[in-house]
Amino acid sequence: MFSLSNKSVVITGGGSGIGKAISLLFAKQGAQVSIIELNEQVALETVNEILAEGGIAKHYMADVSDQQQVISVFKSIGKIDILINNAGIAHVGNAENTSESDFDRIMKVNVKGAYNCLFGVIPIMKANKGGVILNTASIAAHVGLADRFAYSTSKGAIHAMTLSVARDFLTDNIRCNSISPARVHTPFVDGFIAKNYPGEEDKIFEKLSKSQPIGRMAKPSEIAALALYLCSDEAGFITGCDYPIDGGFITLNN
Ligand SMILES: NC(=O)c1ccc[n+]([C@@H]2O[C@H](COP(=O)([O-])OP(=O)(O)OC[C@H]3O[C@@H](n4cnc5c(N)ncnc54)[C@H](O)[C@@H]3O)[C@@H](O)[C@H]2O)c1
Repeated sequence: MFSLSNKSVVITGGGSGIGKAISLLFAKQGAQVSIIELNEQVALETVNEILAEGGIAKHYMADVSDQQQVISVFKSIGKIDILINNAGIAHVGNAENTSESDFDRIMKVNVKGAYNCLFGVIPIMKANKGGVILNTASIAAHVGLADRFAYSTSKGAIHAMTLSVARDFLTDNIRCNSISPARVHTPFVDGFIAKNYPGEEDKIFEKLSKSQPIGRMAKPSEIAALALYLCSDEAGFITGCDYPIDGGFITLNN
């Protein structure tokens, strides 16, 4: 079960955190992994880890918010069976104090970046008679998180995009789903704690861990396991769904 042999998989932001865990697991399952990254160092480290384990992987430098860069990378990759729209950035702020430039920056990477990859991959998947797309939403798409105005807006858009793509390309044999993690312990989380709460890192880490009813953050490998299921042939009956993976955050926080 869950074999990805002979599948060509593109993972945006595949050099770090959740994307890295997905890259490593998918390669282990036999996929040919193409990582699209802004950060060459983490991309190379991940590719080298996969090669050292006998897997197949390559990295491509591109900014997902630039459509021409995405199209040209997809052209050099060729066949794509699975797209993981994972690259994303965070922002702390509410609707009153989020600046126009911060709002635009979040939307450009999180929303336009995902759209660019969808725009580029759908013709490739149609020519290949099908494919699987997994978008990365968040619990922020489903509940009112404090101080995450732009980020929540962007993840709500990812949720809606997933439904739209799943509907429009049903007859092309393209499945499209999303996942909604609560807090996952990745460099993304460490980075925003360090930037937004200097000197209070341990206290905030503890608070963020406890905000999941299960009492901790997720491990990236736990998110990768759900991604593997949803992208595998075993999940062939699943499309147009969002899967919370949240330690009870959405349903048990009362
Ligand atoms: N970590 C969490 O708690 C959490 C929770 C819910 C959802 N998510 C979502 O999961 C995804 C991955 O998060 P993570 O925590 O693994 O982040 P991360 O910062 O560890 O990794 C993200 C990777 O994306 C790359 N990237 C950023 N902008 C890019 C761009 N414009 N073009 C190409 N690559 C780019 C970065 O270089 C980085 O390597 C994001 O979409 C995030 O919103 C994370």
